[in-house]
Amino acid sequence: MKSSAPGKIILFGEHAVVYGRPALAVPVTQVQVEVNVADSSNAGIWIHAPAVDMHAELSALPSDHPIGSVIHNLFSMLELPLPTRGLEINIESTIPVASGLGSGAAVSVALTRALAMHVERSLSDEQVNNLVYEIEKLYHGTPSGIDNTVITYAKPVYFIKGKPGETFKVGKPFTIIIGDTGIPAPTKQSVADVRRAWLKDTNGFESMFNEIAQIALIARRSIESGRPDMLGELMDHNHALLQRMTVSCSELDALVNAAREAGALGAKLSGGGRGGNMIALVNPEDAEKVAQAVLSAGAKKTLTTEVS
Ligand code: MEV
Repeated sequence: MKSSAPGKIILFGEHAVVYGRPALAVPVTQVQVEVNVADSSNAGIWIHAPAVDMHAELSALPSDHPIGSVIHNLFSMLELPLPTRGLEINIESTIPVASGLGSGAAVSVALTRALAMHVERSLSDEQVNNLVYEIEKLYHGTPSGIDNTVITYAKPVYFIKGKPGETFKVGKPFTIIIGDTGIPAPTKQSVADVRRAWLKDTNGFESMFNEIAQIALIARRSIESGRPDMLGELMDHNHALLQRMTVSCSELDALVNAAREAGALGAKLSGGGRGGNMIALVNPEDAEKVAQAVLSAGAKKTLTTEVS
């Protein structure tokens, strides 16, 4: 049985989303996780994930390992015992790890669906989403749930923590460049640091979160009404707020500035920050030039994606 899941990118609202403000995220289908589950004559449940050099039998994994936890939580939700026959689980991924593209959530979504199909049980998207959210907590501590939601539904999502994500229509397609610093984004750490800073200066952070909420709201309206050109300025504004929240870094700022100088309509970091990815809104005819500028400014790789 085979299942795949896309990557994701946050357009607006990261970090503020942990504090109940809305955020916008879209799937990135050029990168994917694919999970294959097959019966095997070898005893045990074997997991192979060559991208992270993992070849392990389930019972040898630490009890809080995210992949082991997906398997245990799924069978307990289905009220089934773990299979006693041999199983081979192969996880192939083209989603860069710890870059803000949701690789962990994508593995969990594809693995959950492939295993459920293998035991001939059907799961609703909501069940998949809830199960994967529990796993996200192992990776990130206090995640908002945006990653699992956009990856489970594989549609653009307007997300408020604790509510079902609202999918929305894209009035006119637009192009973004994703630039990877190559530095693993320490999301758990940056989320914890923002919490510490928020506790120290609650009023200051709450007002920044409110500004970000406005940005996300206006961005959604602009996208739905076919005015994606408005997003550039909103990205620049959102990035400035993320810098004030101390979650940018010199490498991300260099890529953001290079994109703007090369003609991007706006740019910002995306995800947890302090590494990982940035995004830039571009006119399609400028995509190549902006991608080259981002690479020259230190990006390890770029992806160009059309949001539609
Ligand atoms: C990480 O992809 C996005 C953050 O907002 C954390 C979260 O939403 O859980 C930084």
